[in-house]
Amino acid sequence: MAESPAFLSAQEEGSFAYLTIKDRTPQILTKVIDTLHRHKSEFFEKHGEEGVEAEKKAISLLSKLRNELQTDKPIIPLVDKCVDADIWNQYLEYQRSLLNEGDGEPRWFFSPWLFVECYMYRRIHEAIIQSPPIQDFDVFKESKDKNFFESQESIDALCTHLKQLRPAKDLSENELKDECFRLLQISLWGNKCDLSLSGGESSSQRTSVMDSLEGLKPFILINDSEALWALLNGCKKTAKTPAVRVDIVLDNSGFELVTDLVLADFLLSFELATEIHFHGKTIPWFVSDVTVRDFSWTIEHVKSSNQKSTATCGADWENHVKMGRWIYHDHLFWTLPHPYCAMPQVAPDLYAELQKACLVIFKGDLNYRKLMSDRKWAFTTPFRQALSGFHPAPLCSIRTLKAELQVGLQPGQAEQLSASDPHWLTTGKYGIFQFDGPLPT
Ligand code: F6P
Ligand code: MG
Repeated sequence: MAESPAFLSAQEEGSFAYLTIKDRTPQILTKVIDTLHRHKSEFFEKHGEEGVEAEKKAISLLSKLRNELQTDKPIIPLVDKCVDADIWNQYLEYQRSLLNEGDGEPRWFFSPWLFVECYMYRRIHEAIIQSPPIQDFDVFKESKDKNFFESQESIDALCTHLKQLRPAKDLSENELKDECFRLLQISLWGNKCDLSLSGGESSSQRTSVMDSLEGLKPFILINDSEALWALLNGCKKTAKTPAVRVDIVLDNSGFELVTDLVLADFLLSFELATEIHFHGKTIPWFVSDVTVRDFSWTIEHVKSSNQKSTATCGADWENHVKMGRWIYHDHLFWTLPHPYCAMPQVAPDLYAELQKACLVIFKGDLNYRKLMSDRKWAFTTPFRQALSGFHPAPLCSIRTLKAELQVGLQPGQAEQLSASDPHWLTTGKYGIFQFDGPLPT
């Protein structure tokens, strides 16, 4: 078998990885420090002087981290006592073992981008948990909530749409399929709203994405939604148990999460699935990624909306959770730096869990990078090949492009795109539904 291509890394000046490490990540760190500063009086009110001391400590740890990053210092082991710290430190050792003589130590601008970028978010977490009593403070919570509130009109429009759908029995199969495609596209474009690309600045959905779907179609570079539909529609008949389970590996909180919940509600209400399992992060991650707190907060806020359809959606969703039709999981694997092909070895319990699904949907750019091991695959590499054996169940990536990585394109397609739009890979303007169906038996 041919050797796998190299990992993306910030070594290449001018690459998106390079610009991320050079500009975007220090900006994110500065914003985190600023957020802590702004909460100083809140920490004081809650914890007295101890709270203020904790804020100072966290800021000094984060300033040190920013300095290490900007001066391309060696990556150092984690020192906290969290359950995943050993796994991280072993991974750092592994990165060390991959280096050639003369390469020195793993470093920010030299090591694989996926590793160092994940490491930065893990170090932010370390700075906070080492600063009790503010160890539970989510430094990104404020921006996540802001994204939700700023998208309120789009959220209302989407919930109204969902509530106005005719019941399943009144829809022909084609109408059901069209609706499924519409909600899939909304969930796709919802992924434009992540906050790490904008350095944590506002990236909400202010216009109704529903009215723009037709115009956005040419920007879907790979559209396997027919195959996805065939699978969903066939799941009921082929499922080994009466349950038809769809898993959604979530990405961002705010508008994107609402689009995912609307899709999940539709799959249940229109009997394409009987249970939806959501997977989120155990710690604040890549600015806007969903944690259990964001998940519950979102349902609660949708439920308490003044707008009737929105509030009804929120109440339905709360009920789905209560009745066990919606199940939220988190697993520390999602915030490790490993590519997903390592899941069977690193997190066999999670792999076994995903194997129970009829379909696993992976939302967003970071999930795509991890599915593809963040390697510089040729643009025409088949999706299955780049998955490097990862196949817990049929799976689909729903992602807008925000990293210099894409497989499964037609010959010449990437060249054409580069000629018309040199930044097509990184602005989130293009999207994909890329599906890997059942393995041949
Ligand atoms: O910064 C790395 C990156 O993968 C970007 O390419 C993207 O902006 C962001 O992180 C995460 O995007 P998403 O929220 O879609 O996973
Ligand atoms: Mg994200």
